[in-house]
Amino acid sequence: MGENIIEKALLGASVFKNEETLHPAFIPPELPNREDQLVRLSHDFKPLLNKDAAYAVNVAVVGKPGTGKTVSIRYFGRGLEKAAAKRDIKVKFEYYDCFMFRTKSAILRDLLTERFKVTSRGFSDEEITTMINRRLSRENIRLVLCLDEAYLLGQDLLSLIHASEVAKHGQAYISTLIACRVVDWQNTLSFPLSGRLHDRIDMPSYTQEELYKIFKFRSTLAFHKDVITNDILSMVANIAASTQNARHGIEMLYWAGKAADRFNVRPITPDLIRRAKQEVYSELRSDVLYGLRDQEILVLAAIARTLKVDKASSTTIAKVYSNYQLFCEEIGVTKQALPTFRKTIDALVTLGIIGKVVEGIGEGRRGRRARLTLMDIPVEVFDERVNEILQRRKSVGDNID
Ligand SMILES: Nc1ncnc2c1ncn2[C@@H]1O[C@H](COP(=O)(O)OP(=O)(O)OP(=O)(O)O)[C@@H](O)[C@H]1O
Ligand SMILES: [Mg+2]
Repeated sequence: MGENIIEKALLGASVFKNEETLHPAFIPPELPNREDQLVRLSHDFKPLLNKDAAYAVNVAVVGKPGTGKTVSIRYFGRGLEKAAAKRDIKVKFEYYDCFMFRTKSAILRDLLTERFKVTSRGFSDEEITTMINRRLSRENIRLVLCLDEAYLLGQDLLSLIHASEVAKHGQAYISTLIACRVVDWQNTLSFPLSGRLHDRIDMPSYTQEELYKIFKFRSTLAFHKDVITNDILSMVANIAASTQNARHGIEMLYWAGKAADRFNVRPITPDLIRRAKQEVYSELRSDVLYGLRDQEILVLAAIARTLKVDKASSTTIAKVYSNYQLFCEEIGVTKQALPTFRKTIDALVTLGIIGKVVEGIGEGRRGRRARLTLMDIPVEVFDERVNEILQRRKSVGDNID
């Protein structure tokens, strides 16, 4: 009996034809409504395909959340590499999400070891830059360094661009393609980058009609025929139009599909969409959570748990630390000492995943204490996501430490 239930659930027909195509990392074969931006990117990078007089370009892509910045630059990168290869020109497009690679040093070291298979141990950043440039020059490779959420690099961004500008023999081998949200652009990048960019491409927010077209296309990739009706797609486009964020709708489709499988409902009903709507927070880049380090996930889990238990909207570092310690003991993971723990907290604040507000209690600085909050997202949802990631990491046998 028990086995039958399991077998039925495992083998039962899913609404999904290919669930992975709704995953944040998936790059679809087409990008409806982004044709103009892709053409403009291609014009910008055209000089790289000139065999004799290649020069480097620096371009930024700027837009609100969910306007397709990340997917467009990755899509473009693929196309650029292919077009170059056809003409016997070596173009290497290397994508870095600065949520994961947070310093110039981390990026340079990864480039050298992962992409050029040379050890970086013992070398300074300057030496690594020289090694990379020499390698590119010797093999005549044009590198496009793609930096998503580049504002997180702070000062390091300028020095990375600078490193690429110091070229030998008039040939520059490193171009940059930067992506970031409008707010971050205005707050941190627009001033330092002014005068250094060859082009800035604005990603307009999607209208309801555009969203409909995108969701229609994405759902034909993801779902079996007749699972999603046009009425349901209109409903999803209508909800996502409130944020103009494509991720909003794509995640709703994903969660609605998951629930349809769980409850064995076909086709997807408005109720399932309403349910999914409650679970999706478009501002939260769910892919960011997947990229976090294990210790960061553990700290987030501790914050979520503290807030949930206390039914509070903010809490103190001391409380979170004690829950974090319990948590580590429970799952048998080495704890960070308080100073390191505080650094992890600060990293999460910089990434915008948690907020830290200092409030005055009593007189002077001594009475001031930092309180931690989660950004605009209900604790229950957060708790669920973070735990799902922890489970996933444990089940694939990763060592969490
Ligand atoms: N034109 C499009 N066609 C198909 N899918 C799209 C399109 N635009 C966006 N998407 C999908 O919508 C989701 C969000 O897009 P993306 O991650 O590129 O947004 P973003 O602008 O980088 O957002 P953020 O600022 O939050 O990082 C992704 O799943 C992406 O594949
Ligand atoms: Mg993005």
